[in-house]
Amino acid sequence: MNYEECIEKVLVSEEEIKAAVERLAGEIERDFKDSDKKLLLIGILKGSVVFMADILKKLNIPLETDYIKVSSYGGTSSSGHIKLKAEPDREDLSEYNVVVIEDILDTGNTLSWLLGHLKDDLNATTVKLCVLFNKPSRRKKEVKIDYEGFEIPDEFIVGYGLDYNELYRNLPYVGVLKPFVYEG
Ligand code: IMP
Ligand code: MG
Repeated sequence: MNYEECIEKVLVSEEEIKAAVERLAGEIERDFKDSDKKLLLIGILKGSVVFMADILKKLNIPLETDYIKVSSYGGTSSSGHIKLKAEPDREDLSEYNVVVIEDILDTGNTLSWLLGHLKDDLNATTVKLCVLFNKPSRRKKEVKIDYEGFEIPDEFIVGYGLDYNELYRNLPYVGVLKPFVYEG
C-alpha cells in the first residue's frame, strides 16, 4: 500500500497551506506583540504537531510552547467523550495569554470543553483559538474561532498532521481518502 493509491483528491495543497500559515502567524503576531502578558501557544496532540511546528517558525515574537493531549475520536466519527491524556506543564496560566493551536474544528466537543478548562480551571488571562481547518456543517457545540485557515466541506480529511487510524499524518498536503480505505 502506498499513500498515493489511497488519496482520491487533494483538497488543500502544500502551497495553499503555507500561505494560510503565514497569514495566521501575521494575525497572531499583530494581536500579541504589544501585550504585557507572556504568550503561550498550546498545541493539541497529536494532530496539530505539523501545523504547530510551521506556525511557530513564522512567529517573530517571544513565546513559550506547551502541549495537551486529548482524545475523542475512533475511526471517522467523534465519540463525544473527551479524555484528557496530558495536561500542560504549567499548572497556573494567570501570567499568560494563551493561543490554542488545533488542526481541525469539527463537532466542537473537544474544544468547547478544553477552552473552558484553560480559562476556568487553569486561570489563563485570555484564551484564543487558532484552527487550520473548520468544518462548520458538523458543529454540535458553539466554539468561537479567532484565527481560521480554511473552511472546508463535510469530508473526512487526512494529511498535514491529520490521521485516519494513525496513518497519513506525514502527507505535506490535505486530501480525501478513497472509499475502499474505510471499507478495509
Ligand atoms: P471535535 O471534538 O469533533 O471537534 O473533534 C476534533 C478532533 O477530531 C480533531 O482534533 C481531529 O483530531 C479529529 N478530526 C475531526 N475531523 C477530522 C478529519 O476530517 N480528519 C481527521 N481528523 C479529524
Ligand atoms: Mg486533533
